[in-house]
Amino acid sequence: CGIVGYCGPRKVVPVVLEGLRRLEYRGYDSAGIVYLEEGKLVKHRSRGKLSKLESIIDSAIIAPSHIGLGHTRWATHGAPTTENAHPHSDCTGDLVVIHNGIIENYHSLRTELKEKGHVFSSETDTEVLAHLIEEYLDTDLVAAVKQAIERIEGAYAIGVLWSGMEDTIIGVRNQSPLVLGLGGEEGNFLASDIPAFLPYTNKVVFLDDMELAVITAHSCEIQSLETGLPVEKEVNTIDWNAGMAEKAGYKHFMLKEIFEQPQAITNTISGRINPETGEVDLPEINLDREAIESFDRIFLVACGTSWHAALIAKYWIEKFAHIPVEVDIASEFRYRNLLINERVLTVSISQSGETADTLAGIRRAKEMGSKVVTICNVVGSTMTREADGTIYTHAGPEIGVASTKAFISQLAALFLFTLYLAGKKETVSAEKRLELGKALINIAGVVDRELPRLRTDIENLIDDFWDCRDFLFVGRGLSFPIALEGALKLKEISYIHAEGYASGELKHGPIALIDKEMPIVALIPRDEVYQKSLSNVEEIKARKGRLILFGTEGDTHLEKLTDDVIYLPEVHEEMNPILYTIPAQLLSYEIASRRGCDVDQPRNLAKSVTVE
Ligand code: G6P
Repeated sequence: CGIVGYCGPRKVVPVVLEGLRRLEYRGYDSAGIVYLEEGKLVKHRSRGKLSKLESIIDSAIIAPSHIGLGHTRWATHGAPTTENAHPHSDCTGDLVVIHNGIIENYHSLRTELKEKGHVFSSETDTEVLAHLIEEYLDTDLVAAVKQAIERIEGAYAIGVLWSGMEDTIIGVRNQSPLVLGLGGEEGNFLASDIPAFLPYTNKVVFLDDMELAVITAHSCEIQSLETGLPVEKEVNTIDWNAGMAEKAGYKHFMLKEIFEQPQAITNTISGRINPETGEVDLPEINLDREAIESFDRIFLVACGTSWHAALIAKYWIEKFAHIPVEVDIASEFRYRNLLINERVLTVSISQSGETADTLAGIRRAKEMGSKVVTICNVVGSTMTREADGTIYTHAGPEIGVASTKAFISQLAALFLFTLYLAGKKETVSAEKRLELGKALINIAGVVDRELPRLRTDIENLIDDFWDCRDFLFVGRGLSFPIALEGALKLKEISYIHAEGYASGELKHGPIALIDKEMPIVALIPRDEVYQKSLSNVEEIKARKGRLILFGTEGDTHLEKLTDDVIYLPEVHEEMNPILYTIPAQLLSYEIASRRGCDVDQPRNLAKSVTVE
């Protein structure tokens, strides 16, 4: 979900609505806004996307209010209805709460409050919090919020507004992200994500767990809920700007972000690799040679697309740094019987740095003695603050819910990480490291050159495929995780059923699905497993499968197998995952676009999943 709060000289409604628009990628089941006008709270809520909310509050835009809150919801407790949309009020309607996360003990609290006469109008856990604060509220809102917080269990980021304290917003964070934007003369902001206030300020304070912020137009005071004492916080200046989170003439954010990938790669590797020697320097992960030599295993932990990046990194790290790697889906990792000690390095990979399962995973690994490195795109996010070291990907803000440039920059960061480990351990020669480093440096230029042509080729190709019901994606070796990623992208944004398989697994099941109808996208670069992949493709052909091939320029044999070949230039084979991701992304983008799908905000998904 997305949280926005503002108090300052501007009229609040347009500021909050713009903030919500910039956060809509965090959830779009329902939306709501509240502001104070002449001592009264005015609330508007709507089921569905933000545009629906906007359509019902046109007249409110001129409301002279200067303090308010807004919320976009990704439903957890309670269906996405108007009644369940935030903000939620207490019995009097004088106090409102917006909330991200889950209040785990809300059932018992609700029963208790009902017995005391509170009447509820929604099914949400958030409404319980509004009534709980009301229960403790006399004249001191901060004291009442603190008492309520003591009673609740779970993860939350909240914003509170009360008509009895007209110039103040209260924010509390516990295990769900919450940031303050310090706008100086523009006023102050509260948000779940930085892009919400980027048009006004890039000065950010990250709240930590169990901290409470008292925000007015001129001040932000933070205190610890554990000690009750004021906390001095660092003010961070973020090098993102508002334009980076806009479409810049592209039809969709996803398309813009696909085209930003060469820059994302370059930004991620620049300053970290010496182009003359190929040596990689990553002082930010705080791992010297001795530490690296002490590791006998690496766990890579991630969700979704980031997990696919981890699968590729396993091939790279084992091949070049000779350290055994286990790749885990974070929601499994956090609960399984882990064999972890101080000789294990845990690496989390996360675009947002806030994904609840991944965060829980690294906390658990840390408790068990593991060092933790995170690969992350959001400066100051929770994972970066809890890890022992961070490799930032510098992709810039990613708005499209389906990850593209963040994924590509994760691959670049993971390859750098591999070269760093291999350099420290000297598991490959300096000459080889230079060769690999050069390959990484060069790939951004190749992607940049090929992107427009690939888009045209894919646009032409999809005429025959956009209305298919099912797809298979297959690949071997480094192409296998890209097959998984291609299938995930397609199902996420076009709602076509798609599965990714290791080519060698075809004959153990999925081959039964092959007929004249279902397209099979086979990734078949000329790499060390090319001949094997080719045999698998021949098996599909022999069963009259409908092939789409992504292969190497000049490989004319592919044209004998199908008319639908997308050619890619020959690059260093370790870079194929980066290159072959591009047509897979474009294929899903063009198909989803042709089907009229909501590419940037596919149904039921959210950009960062901060609940379990
Ligand atoms: C959500 C997004 C995916 C993303 C995953 C992991 O499900 O919709 O695109 O891959 O979360 O997110 P993270 O921020 O941890 O990389």
